[in-house]
Amino acid sequence: MSFYFINNKLPKMKNKNILDLKDQYNNFIYPKPTENLNEEWIKKNRFQICDPNYCWHRLWPEKPYSTKRLEILIAGCGSDQAAILAKCNPNHNFIGIDLSENSLKHQKKLINENNIINLKLICDDFRKVKFKQKFDYIISSGVIHHLEDPSTGLEYFNNNLKDDGVIYIMVYGDKKSYATNQLKQLFRKLNLEQNNSSIDFIKKITSKLNNLHPAKVFIETEIKQDLSHPSGIVDFFLHKKENFYSIKELIKLLKNNNLIIKNFANGRIKPLSKFFSDSSKEIREKIESMSVEEKLEISQILNWNDRKIDIICCKSKNKNNSVVYNKINLEKVYTYQYHGVEYEINENELNIKDKINNNLFKMNFENNKINIKDILNGKKMITEISLNLSDSEKINFFNKILFMIDNCILDFSYHPVANYKHFYSVKTN
Ligand SMILES: C[S@@+](CC[C@H](N)C(=O)[O-])C[C@H]1O[C@@H](n2cnc3c(N)ncnc32)[C@H](O)[C@@H]1O
Repeated sequence: MSFYFINNKLPKMKNKNILDLKDQYNNFIYPKPTENLNEEWIKKNRFQICDPNYCWHRLWPEKPYSTKRLEILIAGCGSDQAAILAKCNPNHNFIGIDLSENSLKHQKKLINENNIINLKLICDDFRKVKFKQKFDYIISSGVIHHLEDPSTGLEYFNNNLKDDGVIYIMVYGDKKSYATNQLKQLFRKLNLEQNNSSIDFIKKITSKLNNLHPAKVFIETEIKQDLSHPSGIVDFFLHKKENFYSIKELIKLLKNNNLIIKNFANGRIKPLSKFFSDSSKEIREKIESMSVEEKLEISQILNWNDRKIDIICCKSKNKNNSVVYNKINLEKVYTYQYHGVEYEINENELNIKDKINNNLFKMNFENNKINIKDILNGKKMITEISLNLSDSEKINFFNKILFMIDNCILDFSYHPVANYKHFYSVKTN
């Protein structure tokens, strides 16, 4: 008996949109797939940002790490994502769905070459696939913003999610893409199509842009690698359907589907207080009095780093578990290195390089009573680390920790952070 069935009775979901997507991702499979999983991922110690073992503390900061087998759905799993995640997380079960037979053909090759036994693939519109089970975790990256009605994707995720389940979603933001979107409008006006001559034309036009043209800067800093192969150019410049979001619109869309942001998967758009740390008290109080949505709107504008918005969502009724909508209880947190951030300890000083936002920070823990390494390894509570501080030193220390958390240069959980590396089936050196 099959573990799923296809619901063909659903209202026709804008078939043209689905046929276009199927055609595009069959003719130009994207992303350019991993050829050798061991060499390109395991040995290089690379992780998908949504990897469940790696980011457990971000998915469920309210729960202690557990080795329980999770049921995970990847909606729109592309050419390699499901195989990478299944290989890197042998302790969980994965189902990957995609419209593109050719993308899935490549994933099957990866499954065979790597003896992956914890992944099943289904070729269809994910919204038509009915399961007997619900999922602990649903991953959908770069998918719903291509749907005629992205809400139908979110509705499906909510219906197929366990009560305490979480969803990782990546969609495009509407700020940083402004200039390249102007180029796309031009290409549409010129009736460019998804073919080799259009790809060549786009390469020529983009190579002629002034180096300071915001589209050129975007290409050089964000998507250079992607544009080095035809499927990347098609995916980026010749897509027939795309939506770009302000965080406010995205929150509204989630709300309409009884979902809410629980956490951010990276620090691209969320950091805020770094911009106001030397502002007047009035300004700081004004910002502090704003709603979560208003603050996020400001941080999306100030960071201008929203090519991708990577969020972790949960059901709205679990709002109390959202670290975005609730004050962080510093008395109970374990802090940890943030993804994409480099740290250097120099006696009492912590030098921090936020590679995601291209920022440098110098944090001073001048009292000699703090072991800075403890702040970064997720094994000790902040209260434990600060035991030897006086009351005033403690307030100062807690403010520094809050600042680092708010600006995504320090991660946290309400439980010790697990060492995810031991889940790799191949040891790295
Ligand atoms: C931009 S690619 C991203 C692939 C993958 N998520 C990743 O991050 O590598 C989008 C993928 O979603 C698939 N897709 C889009 N809409 C879908 C749908 N309604 N059902 C199943 N797959 C879909 C496409 O075929 C394509 O492979």
